[in-house]
Amino acid sequence: MKLARGLTPEETRWISRAVFAYFRWQEWLDAELPLERRIDQAAGFADTYARKPGFVKDEALAAHAVPAWVREAMEVPVPWLRSLQREPRLWLRARPGKGPEVAAALGGDPDAVPGPVPDSVEYRGLKDLFKTPGFHKGEFEIQDVASQVVGHCCVPTVPEADQRWWDVCAGEGGKTLHLADLLAGKGTVLATDRAEWRLDRLQQRISRARLLGVRWAAWDDAQPIPGEGGFDGVLVDAPCTGLGTWGRNPHARWTVQPKDIEELAARQLALLGRAAEAVKPGGQLVYSVCTLTRAETAGVAEAFLKAHADFEALPFANPFVPGSEPAAFHVFWPQDTGGSGMFVAKWRRRLA
Ligand SMILES: C[S@@+](CC[C@H](N)C(=O)[O-])C[C@H]1O[C@@H](n2cnc3c(N)ncnc32)[C@H](O)[C@@H]1O
Repeated sequence: MKLARGLTPEETRWISRAVFAYFRWQEWLDAELPLERRIDQAAGFADTYARKPGFVKDEALAAHAVPAWVREAMEVPVPWLRSLQREPRLWLRARPGKGPEVAAALGGDPDAVPGPVPDSVEYRGLKDLFKTPGFHKGEFEIQDVASQVVGHCCVPTVPEADQRWWDVCAGEGGKTLHLADLLAGKGTVLATDRAEWRLDRLQQRISRARLLGVRWAAWDDAQPIPGEGGFDGVLVDAPCTGLGTWGRNPHARWTVQPKDIEELAARQLALLGRAAEAVKPGGQLVYSVCTLTRAETAGVAEAFLKAHADFEALPFANPFVPGSEPAAFHVFWPQDTGGSGMFVAKWRRRLA
């Protein structure tokens, strides 16, 4: 679509919905039909499912929504499969305290409504958000609600003075920007990533948001640890198989391979091990992945703790459920949150 000139916003929207519907309903389509007819068929499934989800039976979902190997890698609840067949919701993160204002500026209810965690807004309208004045003024970011939750898991609601954070796999900065906002000028964030082109995007987002206190640098885990004296907090938002994003990226259901799980779990553990070196005594280490496989979630968390006697679990409440019982880690399922699937674990470095 970037190459095709002159498409109207309606045409662009129609094409992307058709492509996503095709991959979302791929296993239901009649392989004998020509591609155009299969695209129509997929659009028909998408429309009927949106109106009457019961028309697809649980058994059909279990057989077709995800590849068979997934059952070996994780628990596969039917409500998760149901959530994967729906069109994903669009989430925004407003600057601290500005959720209601951003929602109102985008048209208010029913187009833009405050979401389940602080500053989140669900957008259901048809505006091109990248062209809105609010976006250009840095008043909000487009960020999945589950990804916003990672920020809330990291930083206490009332930031202590001068916290130093390291966002190890900062990518294009979704969580870096949130961390900087939550620190409210009372701390700094070092954002690193092995992909310099991603850091270029991060830089643009930081200037749009006019954020202070964020530095960035290319880094990978073969290099020495940055930050003399250590960090109060280190976030490892690690590369993963991304099964938690299959609602938003339906084609990935058919490209991820089971062998990727083991390979990525080993990389995640290695990254965590390096990142742990940079945590000050008493400081926190946060691990997040947008996947749900056992090996990359609880598996990595358990292996890390086993190999690092100088760390202990740091139980925290589920930000979607204020006042909930703290736990050493949380799995955020799409069917519960309305966002992507996410896993977050936290540890504290012992003082002695
Ligand atoms: C899940 S993405 C990060 C998303 C980002 N935190 C955000 O919120 O937008 C994982 C990132 O890890 C980076 N990465 C992968 N292997 C790495 C390594 N060995 N060292 C540093 N970064 C790495 C990738 O380039 C990718 O940007």
